[in-house]
Amino acid sequence: MSENSFGTLFRVTTWGESHGPAIGCVIDGCPPGVALTAEQIQADLDARRPGTSRFVTQRQEPDAVKILSGVFEDDRTGGPVTTGTPISLMIENVDQRSKDYSEIRDKYRPGHADYTYDAKYGVRDYRGGGRSSARETANRVAAGAVAQAVLHHLYGDVIRLDAGLVGLGPHEIDRTRADWSTVGNNPFWCPDPVAATEWEKVLDGARKDGSSLGALIEVTARGVPAGLGAPVYGKLDSDLAMAMMTINASKGVEIGAGMEAARFSGIENADEMRMGKDGQPEFLSNNNGGVLGGISTGQDLVVRLAIKPTSSILTSRKSVTRDGEETEVVTKGRHDPCVGIRGVPVAKAMMACVLADHALRHRAQTGRLGPHRF
Ligand SMILES: Cc1cc2nc3c(=O)[nH]c(=O)nc-3n(C[C@H](O)[C@H](O)[C@H](O)COP(=O)(O)O)c2cc1C
Repeated sequence: MSENSFGTLFRVTTWGESHGPAIGCVIDGCPPGVALTAEQIQADLDARRPGTSRFVTQRQEPDAVKILSGVFEDDRTGGPVTTGTPISLMIENVDQRSKDYSEIRDKYRPGHADYTYDAKYGVRDYRGGGRSSARETANRVAAGAVAQAVLHHLYGDVIRLDAGLVGLGPHEIDRTRADWSTVGNNPFWCPDPVAATEWEKVLDGARKDGSSLGALIEVTARGVPAGLGAPVYGKLDSDLAMAMMTINASKGVEIGAGMEAARFSGIENADEMRMGKDGQPEFLSNNNGGVLGGISTGQDLVVRLAIKPTSSILTSRKSVTRDGEETEVVTKGRHDPCVGIRGVPVAKAMMACVLADHALRHRAQTGRLGPHRF
């Protein structure tokens, strides 16, 4: 059984558990000659790192990445570059407190994966949730940094990824105030600075009540050329949905108008076309989120994912034990009050991985990086 890999040509395999010595990933299929340093990867990992504000877990993991293979430098390469061989990345675990988890050794946290892991395997590393811990997502962020280096290698600065929280619990941003260049200025990665300030009180309140909040993440890829993706089983939107649904606590994904499209009439929903000044078709709306027939249109690719509230909370919840007795669970330890916040860099990384994979697949099949015509 191998269920730890994704991607076709840009293929990522992750390994490790939260309370083992280290976690890591292997990226196979990365083209040679891509400029890549550990500092580049580290910058993205720092965005996901725990302990950066009072709104995320207070675990102190430096998440320092080591490149173990696949990158080489000499006086002819102009800096470190990928060699085309597997890139192996490793991050050591340094801040584990296994005793925080003794309570859930035999009890199942409602809303977490304790019960299902036991149901499937009969044995589980309950310290930190083992493989079900979102510690695994650090690997995706590392792989996403490599994917972004590949996109830069292929397209220069043309493709830009933006990701942020557009909703916290029932509260949504005001789109008229949204400025994606400001997401790094607040602890929520929120493009609406007013909402970000209001959310501080909201999330403090949820934590004080011994609870947690869900969130809505939006990821947009601008500058993606038309033509990436494939019909039927290799659709760009289905690969994006798969990638986003694999993120821990992700319970819904939509592309473009998403669920709302079901409410539109055909007249409202059609993304009408005109010829733009540069001789490229121009769309008058983007209800399809930049994908038609599984292939990119050249518009912004827009994906949203619903992240459920953290299940590990301080309020007692009804559950059962491994031996079939009814019990109550209070989860102590250092948990994120809204896992959606640290999910933002993860979702951005998954978008990068899917795009790098599809760019390489498009080039492999058609010999092109962009559209066939125009
Ligand atoms: C970045 C991130 C951090 C997370 N941290 C926690 C956490 O501290 N405590 C917790 O109970 N769940 C956390 N989760 C969610 C669990 O990993 C997830 O709910 C669990 O694996 C069950 O899987 P499911 O919710 O996808 O069904 C986190 C998720 C993400 C994306």
